[in-house]
Formats: sequence, structure tokens, C-alpha cells
Amino acid sequence: MSDQKKKILVTGANGLLGSSLVPLLVWRGFDVVATGRGENRVLDPQLIRSGNIQYVPLDLLDGVDIEKKIISMAPDQIVHAGAQTQVDFCEQNPVECWNTNVTATRFIISAAEKVNAGLVYVSTDFVFSGEKGMYREEDDPGPVNYYGSSKLAAEKSVMGSCLNWSIARTVLVYGNSKLSHRTNILTWVRDELTRGKSIKVVNDQVRTPTFVNDLAEGICLMIEKNASGIFHLSGKDVLTPYEMAIAAAEYFSLDTSLITPVDASTFSQPAKRPLKTGFNIDKAKRELGYSPTAFSLAISKAFNVLRSTFNV
Ligand SMILES: NC(=O)c1ccc[n+]([C@@H]2O[C@H](COP(=O)([O-])OP(=O)(O)OC[C@H]3O[C@@H](n4cnc5c(N)ncnc54)[C@H](OP(=O)(O)O)[C@@H]3O)[C@@H](O)[C@H]2O)c1
Repeated sequence: MSDQKKKILVTGANGLLGSSLVPLLVWRGFDVVATGRGENRVLDPQLIRSGNIQYVPLDLLDGVDIEKKIISMAPDQIVHAGAQTQVDFCEQNPVECWNTNVTATRFIISAAEKVNAGLVYVSTDFVFSGEKGMYREEDDPGPVNYYGSSKLAAEKSVMGSCLNWSIARTVLVYGNSKLSHRTNILTWVRDELTRGKSIKVVNDQVRTPTFVNDLAEGICLMIEKNASGIFHLSGKDVLTPYEMAIAAAEYFSLDTSLITPVDASTFSQPAKRPLKTGFNIDKAKRELGYSPTAFSLAISKAFNVLRSTFNV
């Protein structure tokens, strides 16, 4: 079977990543089964009419349904992007977090083994402690919160499976979130400053933020190149959230004096955050030809779409 005829099942299709990845996979010629919680909220009806895609509701908390639907759809490849991604929610609701992030992944693995599907599992920089920064794929994990622990447990299940598996870890994803209900740092800054609100933004955390279109492209490359193992897919610029916020404010010509830099210790959030993450992406560049967009360009690419839609 040629790569272009592969059937790809995506979980989390209503999310920030899913809403970019699903259209990209269709445009690249794959047959796509997009799955998400409840009805389709993000896919363009015109895209669905193209015939190379169907949307199927799938609750990750329903293991029986996961098995039933994966077996009946018999995909060649699964991209498991769905997850409970709210870090503080995970800390306060560990059972739901575990069931969504770990138990569901194990059901997906079991079903994938039955239909001999490959699996790309989407994971996070939060599997690391944040002490070292600029992590490589082979660095030792050491999560500092429940969300990170759940994603690491799921990674271990994926790695222990008999599947043709790969793991795409990523960092602080931003982009056109009009398509999903989640805000991201750039849309949050834009919306708060537009209302004239002052915001405090952390300036002692380090990240390599990831443009969602780059992440979707990297995952496509992983599928097309039949990659296996772990890949770090992030942006190439090393920034603090404060620096990102200033860049967003400047892009929208909003008042940067409303943004105050603070240390993470200022906030009393339920879940601790790793201080310094960020990825070394040499392996993805070398083996996949991954080439992420510079932050300054990505911000304008992302918001040009929003500008035309929201008239901002
Ligand atoms: N965003 C980031 O900064 C970031 C950073 C590192 C790693 N990641 C990883 O990247 C992947 C994609 O995340 P994202 O940025 O697209 O986050 P997102 O926008 O929160 O998307 C996650 C999706 O999972 C879905 N989901 C949650 N519980 C579900 C359930 N019980 N049944 C079915 N679907 C369920 C959510 O559904 P609803 O839309 O209905 O809530 C949402 O659409 C995740 O695996 C995440 O861990 C993200």
C-alpha cells in the first residue's frame, strides 16, 4: 500500500493540534478518520464533503467504544493527540486525568495491536523536570506534576507495546485557536490587552514554543517517513512566556506596559511547572527534514488568519 492511501485515525480532532493536523493529513492525500469528544466542532463542512475524511465521536473515557471503533475503522496508523491537557485540572482530578491520558492510551494500544496499526503518540516537555533545559530525546524524564506523570506513564505503555510506535513530544503550542475552544498564550495576551486589562506573565520559565502548523507538519513527516522512536518537535526560538507576550502585544500594536514580568513563584497554582524546558530538535531536523518557523514569522502567519476572521 502506498503512503498516500493510508488511513489515519486521529484522536483529539477538536483540539488545537487536531484542528490543524486533520486538514493537513487530508491535503496530503491520506484517508482520515477524525475523532473527538462529542460532535465535530472544528472541521470545515467543505473539507468533510471532500470525501477523504469522516468524523466519528469517540470518548476517551469509554474503553469499550475505543476498541470497537478502532477495530471497525481498521486504520493503518493512529495519531493519538487527545488528552486531558489542563495541567491544574490534572493535579486536582488525578483519577480523570489518569483515565483520559493513561488508561485510554492503553485501550488504543490494545486495539491498534488487533488491527496492526502504527501509533504516533503526542507527548510533552512536561515529562521533564525543568532543571536542565534544551532536552534531547534520550534525556531522563522526571515530571514535576501529575499531568507530566500521566503523559510519561502513557509513553511507557506505548514504548512497551508490540506496535510500530513513535512519540512526538512538543512544547507550549500556539496558533489559530479560533478552531478549538482552547486559548493559547498569544490569543490570551491579545484578548486581555484588547480589554485594557493588566497581566502578569512569567519571565523565569524557558520554553521553545511550537507553532501548531509546524507540529502538524512534523507529525505528517513522521508518518510519511515511517519514523519510529521518540522525536522532539518544537520551535527553534528559546523564549520566556513574558517575551512571547511582548511579541504578541507588539504584533497587535497593543500596550506592552500592561504586561508585568514576574517569577513563577508569584503564582500559587495547584500544579508545579518545570522551570526550564525547551527542546533540542536536531534529530527531527536530521531524520525528518523538520524545519520549524521562526517565532516572529509564525506569529504573523497564525494571526493573519485570525485577522481576516475576527477583524482584529
Ligand atoms: N497545547 C500545548 O501547549 C501542548 C504542549 C505539549 C504537549 N501537548 C500535547 O499535544 C496533544 C494535543 O494537545 P492540544 O494542544 O491539541 O490540546 P487541546 O486543545 O486541549 O486538545 C486536546 C483534545 O483532547 C480532547 N479530549 C479530552 N478529553 C477527552 C475525552 N474524554 N474524550 C475525547 N477527547 C477528549 C479534548 O476535547 P474537547 O475539545 O472536547 O475538550 C481536546 O479536543 C496532547 O496530547 C497534549 O498533551 C500540548
